[in-house]
Amino acid sequence: MDAISVIRAKRDGHALAPAQIDWVIDAYTRGEVAEEQMSALAMAILLNGMSRAEIARWTAAMIATGERMDFSSLPRPTTDKHSTGGVGDKITLPLAPLVAACGAAVPQLSGRGLGHSGGTLDKLEAIPGWRARIGPDEMLGILREVGAVVCAAGEGLAPADRKLYALRDVTGTVESIPLIASSIMSKKIAEGTGALVLDVKAGSGAFMKTLDDARELAETMVGLGTDHGVRTVALLTDMDTPLGLTAGNALEVREAVEVLAGGGPADVVELTLALAREMLDAAGLTDADPARALAGGSAMDTWRRMIAAQGGDPDAPLPVARETHTVPAPATGVLTGLDAYAVGVAAWRLGAGRARKEDPVQAAAGVELHAKPGDRVTAGAPLLTLHTDTPERFGAALAALEAEGALRVSPTDARVPDVRPTVLGRIADG
Ligand code: URA
Repeated sequence: MDAISVIRAKRDGHALAPAQIDWVIDAYTRGEVAEEQMSALAMAILLNGMSRAEIARWTAAMIATGERMDFSSLPRPTTDKHSTGGVGDKITLPLAPLVAACGAAVPQLSGRGLGHSGGTLDKLEAIPGWRARIGPDEMLGILREVGAVVCAAGEGLAPADRKLYALRDVTGTVESIPLIASSIMSKKIAEGTGALVLDVKAGSGAFMKTLDDARELAETMVGLGTDHGVRTVALLTDMDTPLGLTAGNALEVREAVEVLAGGGPADVVELTLALAREMLDAAGLTDADPARALAGGSAMDTWRRMIAAQGGDPDAPLPVARETHTVPAPATGVLTGLDAYAVGVAAWRLGAGRARKEDPVQAAAGVELHAKPGDRVTAGAPLLTLHTDTPERFGAALAALEAEGALRVSPTDARVPDVRPTVLGRIADG
């Protein structure tokens, strides 16, 4: 077997044989296939695609390069959620304790934000004392005691993906549906969850800008999960506008706690409950009632125990930014658009996100929304509040919000386009 013949086969539009896939992934992880050879292959895959059988084999080969976690000793069924990422997506924070409060175990390996899209670990690190890094034994112990863990993935899980994702990032090959699907699913399958619900987002603030692309990614991932014996379902959800009323780490924790206390913005509550029902159904807990667990306070109790188990103080005040700046509504009327990408870039520029993996983030930075599309607004009244510790960043954040189409207000008597629902579709196998 040699790398050049594998690259040529994909370059010329042929399907790769299972033995070619196994070899190239293993040899690349061991350093025998060079970075430039894998870049050429990734580009050939981006241009010519892969069949369902090839993607399944590619995913299995990536899983085989590392360890697989095993939660079979737990008395509860395991169920997890993965979101393809977006702006203001704090759903994991209320969702993991809610689903645990309903009787499942939630082993949630999460990531950090990059660019305009936030990361769950950065959000939780806004809580004083909270630790993202825990070992497998500690993870199992917390799952047994509390039922939910949100933590960083260990180095040993799908190491082929770690290497390949970094390569794709610098070779213009991130946007290949077979490579995205196999990257996400290799980590989720290696994590050892019995059931998985995917939140595949579509819109300006998402990876997938169109609903058609989001559907194709969702179908590919649901197929991969099913082929590997993980009960997998996907919801297609809106990311043209931010989720909830906050984007930024501590601001999002505050909103998640509001949801756990029985309040919070309607779209965050709706999506949390929709995903909770899917996770519980997929785990076989069809009698559970997540709306009751949220209203009755058991999800909040689980949240407090989950945060404390990882060193966090659920009662500690969250960090507050040193400076704020208010953006007024530009006109009186109905807010018809508040672009997720523009808000995400503004939050990132205020310090909530990072441009490179090594960069630090500001816990308190971000954007607070005072209205959502469909709401009436009055010229000059506050529409957004920008938060940062470094006020010299306000100018760059405002520039993102002044981009064409970022904020749209229609006069009250104009025909107002319908606001997109939060959940746009559902994909299950077969
Ligand atoms: N997230 C991943 O883990 N992998 C991708 O390829 C894209 C998003």
